[in-house]
Amino acid sequence: MKSSQTHAVRGAGRPPGRRADPLARIRAEFDGMNGLNGVWRSARGEVWVADPEAVRAVMGNRHGTVAETSDFFHHRHGVFGPRSAQIAIGRAARDLIRNHLSSHQHELDRLVAERLAPRSEWPDAGNLLVLSHLREVLLHRDAPADLRTTVEAIVTRAVLAGARRRHPAPSRLLFRRRALRALRREVRARQDRPDGPSAPRDLLDVVVGGGGPAADPRELVEVYLSFLFAVVGSVGFALGWSVLLMGTHPDRVAADPSWTVREALRLWPVAWLFARTPSRVQELSGTRVTPRDRLVVCSYLVHRHPGHWDRPDEFVPQRWATAVPDAAYLPFGHGPHTCAGATVTVRLLEDLVGLLSRDWRLSVTPHDGAAPQVGPALAPPRFTATLSRPDGCPGRR
Ligand code: HEM
Repeated sequence: MKSSQTHAVRGAGRPPGRRADPLARIRAEFDGMNGLNGVWRSARGEVWVADPEAVRAVMGNRHGTVAETSDFFHHRHGVFGPRSAQIAIGRAARDLIRNHLSSHQHELDRLVAERLAPRSEWPDAGNLLVLSHLREVLLHRDAPADLRTTVEAIVTRAVLAGARRRHPAPSRLLFRRRALRALRREVRARQDRPDGPSAPRDLLDVVVGGGGPAADPRELVEVYLSFLFAVVGSVGFALGWSVLLMGTHPDRVAADPSWTVREALRLWPVAWLFARTPSRVQELSGTRVTPRDRLVVCSYLVHRHPGHWDRPDEFVPQRWATAVPDAAYLPFGHGPHTCAGATVTVRLLEDLVGLLSRDWRLSVTPHDGAAPQVGPALAPPRFTATLSRPDGCPGRR
């Protein structure tokens, strides 16, 4: 299975080491190098980019200064393409999810009651809730039953935070081979069907339809896995951060759920690293870079940049009542490769956060010694959430 936990940072690949508190180490480097406009060469030789203007120049890529691709479509064998197919797939996936959210919105209340109350263990609870809600988007209900089981097993073995630690390497390798084989078989079967569905029934149809009959099934499977990691991994982790912040700051929970969601994505951007490769020798805010360099754009540092944010390390959802400092805010990336799923993600998060803050009393207990789980994705620390209905609420039980 892919080594990353989220789609958006696959090219960024290696997270910054397993040593205690990698975020603190990055912060220390950033603080030490701030005189160079937030662009510096790390001890490992990567060029880190954390200055908001430089970040937008790199991600916006208006002058072709970096090789044109997002991490989403970057896979082990290269880059899935052409670009027109990438765009078509992104849009079709977004539309499929949007339609599903619209027709299943009424199920969210029951889902929260069943899956989160009275007690739930996070961040897994967030991923599994999203999986439950979007199961048919991932694979339609008539897809082969064993493939559905495989996809659920990919979630438990590769998408959940710390999943890799829970399974020994040989069993992971074996499972990975089996899972990829099963997905390739299904991709080929769908490619071979001359009278395929007129509208995609699930994300696998989206990918197969966008790639066309001649596309390499290995690549299509990789793109499908990017969607699986995005939908269940990234969205689940983002929900986890919102719930953790709401539960630990009950006095600050905003009347408007969108402020809470935005602020959670600011403090803890799940996709916190993006990789890019310079297309030519150039100066980036005073640092010379070449096509052999690897640029690591860090939204975590940008979102806490003291020059752009008041009280950058504090949870202040109310700041979103007025401030929109978008130069320093890019939880879904920036420029031509901005996340195709941003609007549907935000909609689902706002619906769930709104529901939790309106209909439930939430309390949160962080596990002893738990810290943010820093990998290619930024996942919340382990915590327990307790939900009860407030007195007078119609759904009280
Ligand atoms: C919390 C949830 C999510 C976060 C934080 C997130 C973040 C991102 C980021 C930062 C990028 C840009 C990567 C780059 O420029 O290298 C991206 C790209 C992308 N995302 Fe997401 N994403 C999320 C959910 C989703 C979902 C649910 C979908 C499903 C439609 C999705 C589909 C895509 C696609 C297709 C791209 C590639 C865009 C392109 O290259 O044209 N994402 N995402």
